[in-house]
Amino acid sequence: MSTQDIQRRRTFAIISHPDAGKTTLTEKLLLFGRAIQLAGTVKGRKADRHATSDWLELEKQRGISVTSSVMQFPHKDAIVNLLDTPGHADFSEDTYRTLTAVDSALMVIDAAKGVEERTIKLMEVCRLRDTPIMTFVNKLDREGRDPMELLDEVEEVLKIRCAPVTWPLGMGKQFRGVYHLRNQRVHLYSATHGGRIQEGEVIDGLDNPRLDELFGQEAEQFRDELELIREAGHDFDEEAFLRGELTPVYFGSAINNFGVQELLDDFVEHAPAPQARRAEEREVAPTEDKLSGFVFKIQANMDPQHHDRVAFMRICSGGYRPGMKLRHVRTGKDVKISNAITFMASDREQAEEAWAGDIIGLHNHGTIQIGDTFTEGESLKFTGVPNFAPELFRRVVLADPLRAKALTKGLEQLCEEGASQLFKPMLGNDLIVGAVGVLQFDVVAYRLKTEYKVECRFEPVNVSTARWVTCDDEKKLAQFKDRNESNLAVDGAGSLTYLAPTRVNLQLAEERWPEVTFSATREH
Ligand code: G4P
Repeated sequence: MSTQDIQRRRTFAIISHPDAGKTTLTEKLLLFGRAIQLAGTVKGRKADRHATSDWLELEKQRGISVTSSVMQFPHKDAIVNLLDTPGHADFSEDTYRTLTAVDSALMVIDAAKGVEERTIKLMEVCRLRDTPIMTFVNKLDREGRDPMELLDEVEEVLKIRCAPVTWPLGMGKQFRGVYHLRNQRVHLYSATHGGRIQEGEVIDGLDNPRLDELFGQEAEQFRDELELIREAGHDFDEEAFLRGELTPVYFGSAINNFGVQELLDDFVEHAPAPQARRAEEREVAPTEDKLSGFVFKIQANMDPQHHDRVAFMRICSGGYRPGMKLRHVRTGKDVKISNAITFMASDREQAEEAWAGDIIGLHNHGTIQIGDTFTEGESLKFTGVPNFAPELFRRVVLADPLRAKALTKGLEQLCEEGASQLFKPMLGNDLIVGAVGVLQFDVVAYRLKTEYKVECRFEPVNVSTARWVTCDDEKKLAQFKDRNESNLAVDGAGSLTYLAPTRVNLQLAEERWPEVTFSATREH
């Protein structure tokens, strides 16, 4: 048991609006972390711009997706775990849940576009746990907005203070480099596309005559501008950063490998080590010697012959050794785990060990659900892995009625993975699938066909929103169920759900039944 091993873990995810440069930056971080040799590896699996079938093909080619879900590499004294999140907005639920498994996040902003809609949404999710955020303003090699104006926008829209750590000298065609405010060094910009790491020239001090030699008049401008920045007093405050109230900001150009080194070096230095986690019973410290963890994601192996899936578990305390016995708290069963997947950069296959902060993949034959807790025997339940009420609903229509059983099984398994949500209305035999994005229906139909040999289509259904309902008063609940049978369903986990045909209907139901709680999220 090694506290040191735990303290050196840095587990994070990248949040951004599509096209800001998440894929490019991921790749460059891996490149600078010496985890890949050549740029282009990550890029190849970019999914957002493809049709569904291409997307699925791509997912398959991703080496069964699993290995690229967590990218682990050592940097300096740290072990970095970068958790991948799907780029496509239709799979944002998966992203939200992944954010429950990180200790910090890296926000990428396009210098020309500033704060965009998905960034706002993802920040809201990070807020739920006050996740510390680092910011990278990307694409400085292009004309963008005034950096000061960008920071003002971040502060105003995202409600987080900004502390620039580097500052850009020029922009677009006039982009000269960045000045590191703390080291007081100028890093000169040189465009280096692709997979080579090139050490650019570094100049000590703003007053260095080398700057005048290179940039003449411009050098004076830079000095004036930086004087203003200093006076504005956006100092980096580590405590405020760790509380999620302040974000250190870096500028660069991911595609040109520029600004990434400084970002990564500072990231391993300042980003938090594994933090304590709340369980229903108590708070769990990462350095406790017994292992505990929770499942935040389930992914199919995409092998149509076997329905085996991988459950991703974030280790919250202690360490994993092959062959150890773990208690699956929800079922109360003890299981011996001998072949968990670990994600060491050097050897991705079967890890010899993993520590708090790491993610391990457990082979799942249908017993593990999102949100499940594993321990070495203690009865714990980690909180905070949410299910979001879907916004789109369709009725499943089966082509061959004899395949009804296979359909139910397929849907139940796909919903367990979080691929979509299943609702069984209390009246009738319909199966209703709920999703956050339209693409999810295509994926479900495609996978039912290829993995479960079930042909089906989706039809519109008169449901516009769903709420999970609970009520402490059993008598009231029974009354409520009795009166609202035609709007009630049970979801895949057996929870009671109100399916509202319109927003107005939902509002009326809420007013009429004040004792009943209608929730837009459900904890797994
Ligand atoms: P995403 O994952 O956040 O969606 O973004 P991605 O990295 O795919 O980047 C989106 C586009 O922005 C890509 O161009 C990428 O090459 C470009 N890009 C990323 N970083 C920089 C940068 O520092 N400077 C400039 N000028 N462009 C950058 P694309 O043409 O849409 O795609 P591709 O043809 O390059 O694949």
